[in-house]
Amino acid sequence: MQTTNDIRRSFLDYFGEKGHEIVPSAPLIPYNDPTLMFINAGMVPFKNIFTGTETSSYTTATSSQKCVRAGGKHNDLDNVGYTARHHTFFEMLGNFSFGDYFKEQAIHNAWELITKVWGIAPDRLTVTVYHTDDEAFDLWRKIAGLPEERIIRIATNDNFWSMGDTGPCGPCSEIFYDHGAHIAGGPPGSPDEDGDRFVEIWNLVFMQYDQRGEGDRIDLPKPSIDTGMGLERIAAVMQGVHDNYDTDLFKALIAQSGTLTETATTGDNQASHRVIADHLRASSFLVADGVLPANEGRGYVLRRIMRRAMRHAHILGAQDPLMHRLVGALTGEMGNAFPELIRAKPLIEETLEREEINFRRTLANGLKLLDAEIAEMDSGDILPGATAFKLYDTFGFPYDLTEDALRAKSLGVDRAGFDAAMAEQKAAARAAWKGSGDQASESIWFDIVDREGATEFTGYTSEEGEGVIIALVKDGDEIESATRGDEVIILTNQTPFYGESGGQMGDSGTVTGADDLKADISDTSKPLGRLHAHHAKITSGSMSVGDSIHLTVDALRRTQLRANHSATHLLHKALRHHLGEHVTQKGSLVAPDRLRFDFSHPSSLTDDELKAVESDVNAQIRGNSSVVTRLMSPDDAVAAGALALFGEKYGDEVRVLSMGSEDNIDYSVELCGGTHVNALGDIGLMVMISESAVSSGVRRIEALTGEAARLWLMDRDNKLKMIAASLKASPDEAAERVAMLVEERKKLDRELAEAKKALALAGDGGGTSGAAESEQIGDVSFVGQVINGLNPKELRGIVDDSKKTLSSGVSALIAVNDGRATVAVGVTADLTDRWNAVELVQAGVAAVGGKGGGGRPDMAQGGGPDGAKAEDAIAAIRTVLAG
Ligand code: ALA
Repeated sequence: MQTTNDIRRSFLDYFGEKGHEIVPSAPLIPYNDPTLMFINAGMVPFKNIFTGTETSSYTTATSSQKCVRAGGKHNDLDNVGYTARHHTFFEMLGNFSFGDYFKEQAIHNAWELITKVWGIAPDRLTVTVYHTDDEAFDLWRKIAGLPEERIIRIATNDNFWSMGDTGPCGPCSEIFYDHGAHIAGGPPGSPDEDGDRFVEIWNLVFMQYDQRGEGDRIDLPKPSIDTGMGLERIAAVMQGVHDNYDTDLFKALIAQSGTLTETATTGDNQASHRVIADHLRASSFLVADGVLPANEGRGYVLRRIMRRAMRHAHILGAQDPLMHRLVGALTGEMGNAFPELIRAKPLIEETLEREEINFRRTLANGLKLLDAEIAEMDSGDILPGATAFKLYDTFGFPYDLTEDALRAKSLGVDRAGFDAAMAEQKAAARAAWKGSGDQASESIWFDIVDREGATEFTGYTSEEGEGVIIALVKDGDEIESATRGDEVIILTNQTPFYGESGGQMGDSGTVTGADDLKADISDTSKPLGRLHAHHAKITSGSMSVGDSIHLTVDALRRTQLRANHSATHLLHKALRHHLGEHVTQKGSLVAPDRLRFDFSHPSSLTDDELKAVESDVNAQIRGNSSVVTRLMSPDDAVAAGALALFGEKYGDEVRVLSMGSEDNIDYSVELCGGTHVNALGDIGLMVMISESAVSSGVRRIEALTGEAARLWLMDRDNKLKMIAASLKASPDEAAERVAMLVEERKKLDRELAEAKKALALAGDGGGTSGAAESEQIGDVSFVGQVINGLNPKELRGIVDDSKKTLSSGVSALIAVNDGRATVAVGVTADLTDRWNAVELVQAGVAAVGGKGGGGRPDMAQGGGPDGAKAEDAIAAIRTVLAG
C-alpha cells in the first residue's frame, strides 16, 4: 500500500522529473492576498506569477500546499466529522505552468500519472469539461481515449474556476473517480451527482484570465495551468477505501485518540474522533505558522476549531486535556514532510493544553446551561439568540460550537437574536467608554471598529503584506478616497504595522498599490487599542476604500525597535536581580534609537550596581537563546511568573514573552504585546548611557543597543583619543596624565595666590595702590588698600593677617578683578563695640556701585561693579571712621 507520505512524494517526484521546480508549501497565512484569511488552494502562493506582477526563476512548478477552509468564503468547519471528505485542513497537490505548457501537456501528464504511474484503472475515471471547451473535450478523447459519454460538458461555475472575486481564473476540467455501484450517487451533471459514488480527485484549471473586479476581466500574459488534487482523497482512492478518514494517516491519528480516551473509534464516537483528528491537524499547522488563539480574526477561527475539537474530547469523556497529547502522533505522521511541525511542537502542545484547560473550566458550566435548555426543547426547536450569546460571552462557546451541539439533536439557534445580543453588548461598551470623557474624537474609531472589527496585526511574523482599506480618515472625518498630497489616516483589515502601545513606538514605512500609488507612513497609532491607524501622506496616485494596498514596514527601524524592546525586558530583570524585587516598571519608551526605562528605587545606582546590571544584560545577549512567545490567560501568566503591570487592563489572552536563561530557567518572563528579537544575540550589545532621577523614588535609565551602542562607544573612544593627542600621551596613559595635570594646576594656583598675597602685603605698587602701612584716623589705626588682580578668595586671609599686624585697628582691602571690586573689612575684637565691619563694608560697597555686604562685626565682605572707584570706597570707609 502506498502511504499518504508515499503518494505526496510520488506526485512531486513525477513533476520534478518533468522539470518542475518542487516548491515547499507556503505558510497558511497568505502574504500576497489580503482578501483571504487562509490559503485555500495550491495556486494562491503563485497568484502574482500567473498575473505577471511577480517573476520567478522557473516557469513550471509543483507543490503540496497546506490549505485551510474554515472561516471566510470557503468554510467547511461545520461539516467536518459528519462526512467522508470534509476537512478544515488538507493538502492540495498541484502542478503549475506559468505560460509554459497548456492544455495538452496538462491533460497528458495528469492521465499518465494516475493511470500509468499510479495504475488507477481508466474505466473508473470520468472527466468533465467546460461546456464550450471543445479543445479540452477533443484532447481527452485523443490522449485518454475516453468514450464520449465519459467526457461530460458542464455549463456551470463548477467548471469555471476562480480563486475568489478577483484573481486568476479560467475554464477547468475535473477528473472523477467512481468508487463503485455499491455507493449511492451518479456521475457529474446527473441528478444524483451529489451522492458519494463519483468523487472529484483532480481539477485541471486552464488559467487564461485575471478577474480585476466585477465585470472587469483581462487576459493573463500567457495561458497557464493550475491543478489541484486533494491528497486525502487520492490517498483514499489509492488505498482502496471510500472514506478519507480510513486512510493510513487519519487511521493513525484516530487510533491514538481512541487509545488516549479509552473509547471505541466507531459507532456513536466516530464523528467525535474524526473531528478531533481533523481539527488537530488544522490547529497544529496554524500554530506552527504563527497563529495563536484570539478573540478576533484568524486567531478566533483557530480558537473555534480548537474548542470544537475539545468539546468532542469532552463528549468522549476525556478526563484530562487531550489534544496536546495527540501532537506526537501528528508529528510522527507529518513531521518529515513539514519540518515546521517539529520545530513548533512544544509551542503547539502548550497552546493546545492551555486552551483546553481554560475551555474545560467553563465548559462544564456552559454545558449545564445548554443541557437544561435542550431538555426544554423539542426536535426542530430554535434556541433563543440571547442564550447562545450567554454561552459565548460567559462560557466561551463560539457560536458554531453551540450550533454544532444542537445540530446533533436536530435543534437550531436563532442567529439574528445572537447578532442582536452581540450588537447590544458593543453599544454598552461604547457608552461606557464615552463615560470616560474621551468621547467625540473617539466616536469615529468606534464607528469603524463596530462596522469592520479590529485590525488584524500580522507584524509579529512579517514586515510586509497586503491589506484591504476599510476606512480613510481625514481631519477627523471618514472619506471615500484620497489622492496625491493628501494627509490621511488609513485603516486596513490587516497590517504588519505595529500601532504605538506598551511604550513601543508605532511603525513607519510605505504603502504602494495599483496605478502607481505611493504613500509614506510616518507613524502608526492604535485607537481604542483595536485599530491600527496608519498616518500617511500620499506622494503619488490615489486610493479608495475597498482597494488592496501593499504595506511595507521600515525594516531597519523595526529591527532597532525590536532590539530595544527585548533589551528593556532584560534590563528590567537585571535591575530586579541586583537591586531587589521592589523594582517595578514605572514607564518605558522603546524608540528606534534608544530605550528609556523608569522604575521604582529610592536612591541613585552605585557604579558597581550599574556595572553589574549592564554586565548581566550583555551576558544574556551573548547567550543568544531564542525568545519564546506564549499566549495565556492573565492569571496563568502571572502564575507562570510573568511580570504584569499592576493596574494595567489585560484582555482574555495575553502574550507572554520569555527570554534568556539562568540556571536553566527563563531569565525574564513578561506580559507584552510588543515586537521582539527572535534570539537575544540580535540585540548585539547594550550600553547604559545615563542614570537619573525622574521624581522621588523613581529612577530612569537610558540605554542604547546594537549599532547605536557601538557608535556611542566609538564616539567615547574618539574623545579619549583626542584628549590623549592633546596630552601627547597614549590613550592608556591619558587618565593618569590628566590627574597629574590637575594636581600640578592646583599647586600652581596655590603658589600664585601666595605670591599675590605677599605682593599685596608688601604694599608694592604695580597693580596695588595705597599702602599696607597703617594711618591714624582719630584714635583708630587704619589700613586701606586696593589690590588689582587679587583673587577675591584671598581677601579674607589678607585682612586677617592685617588685623594681626595691627593688633588693634581696622583693615579695609579691595580686590579689583575684571573691573569689579570686592570689598573686605576687618575690625579687631577690641573695637567691635565701636565699629561694625558690616556697616563699614556697606559704605565701601556703596561707593563701588554695589548694594549690601554682609558678615560678622569683626569681618564682612561685599562687592560692586565699579572697580575704578575702589579708592572712593577706601575714602568712604575713612569718612565713616572719621565719624
Ligand atoms: N485551483 C484549483 C482548485 O483549487 C486547482 O481546485
